[in-house]
Amino acid sequence: MAIRKVGVLGCGLMGAGIAEVAAKAGFDVVVREVDRVLIEKGLGRIRGSLDKAVEKGKLEAAARDAALERLAGTVDFTDLADCDLVIEAIVENLEEKKRVYAAIDAVLGEGAILASNTSSLTITQLAMSSRRPERFVGLHFFNPVPVMKLVEIVRTLLTDERVLAEVTELCRALGKTPVACRDNSGFIVNRLLVPYLLDAVRAFEEGVGSIEDIDEGMKLGCGYPMGPFTLIDFVGLDTTYSIANIMFEEYREKRFAPPPLLKQMVQAGRYGRKSGRGFYDYAKR
Ligand code: 3HC
Repeated sequence: MAIRKVGVLGCGLMGAGIAEVAAKAGFDVVVREVDRVLIEKGLGRIRGSLDKAVEKGKLEAAARDAALERLAGTVDFTDLADCDLVIEAIVENLEEKKRVYAAIDAVLGEGAILASNTSSLTITQLAMSSRRPERFVGLHFFNPVPVMKLVEIVRTLLTDERVLAEVTELCRALGKTPVACRDNSGFIVNRLLVPYLLDAVRAFEEGVGSIEDIDEGMKLGCGYPMGPFTLIDFVGLDTTYSIANIMFEEYREKRFAPPPLLKQMVQAGRYGRKSGRGFYDYAKR
């Protein structure tokens, strides 16, 4: 396999999950954050997750220690210079991503692959803002990364077939199941998931059922692990709202339009689990 060393840009929820999975799978991993505080926080999150896996008997203590040995944190892009693949998982802000691509392109080898974990920006736009559009690909992981088996591999009109083959092999080596998709807004999963989540909010607005009953209905009636409101709280209302707006911009179809209640809750700072309150109040739970 051509990919041996993996760089991860951003050590938030998704970046930390990707770095953890890659280190556990035997890759050398270096993860970059903007400052030491964020690096320590991100590495702490990874250690905590690996410790939990050991406590639960899902991982040998020696395997945890070996994964941590393979993992390094940095604030310096040059420490990623010898990576074969760099996966960007920073904030969903185009200007910020462009800045980071310029910095990483300046140090990364010609043959290296650059990937983005974006869920809402188009891969074509991102690829064109890097110096390697043919070696740029979307690798969309799902939250929580250590648990969710799927990775969407997003190709553009420019992506080199060999790059697709290499990242497909990498996803399998990470223990994930890759699916291939075109660079259409929302890819496969969010294109189907987001209208469903928005429709749940509309059903509630229309008085079809309570938040709890709609959640229970979809959990027990369809076998979903989480009802739609629990899932929106988990993903984040702000994130769901932002993805919905981008998809609505792209497709101009009502099913992608965020309902007023979702907008108001975001404006009121009710982002879900991360802020302590969304459709549910986590202080009470
Ligand atoms: N890290 C590692 N392991 C975790 C974890 C985490 N953050 N969260 C849960 N787990 C593990 C638990 O340890 C447990 O493992 P075990 O069964 O071996 O003991 C297992 O997952 C189940 O966890 P719990 O028993 O605590 O709780 P649940 O049974 O409710 O499962 C869940 C939690 C896996 C999150 C499950 O509810 C689920 O699959 N929910 C749906 C998640 C989903 O749809 N994610 C996609 C969101 S969309 C997205 O990410 C795209 C983006 O673009 C918006």
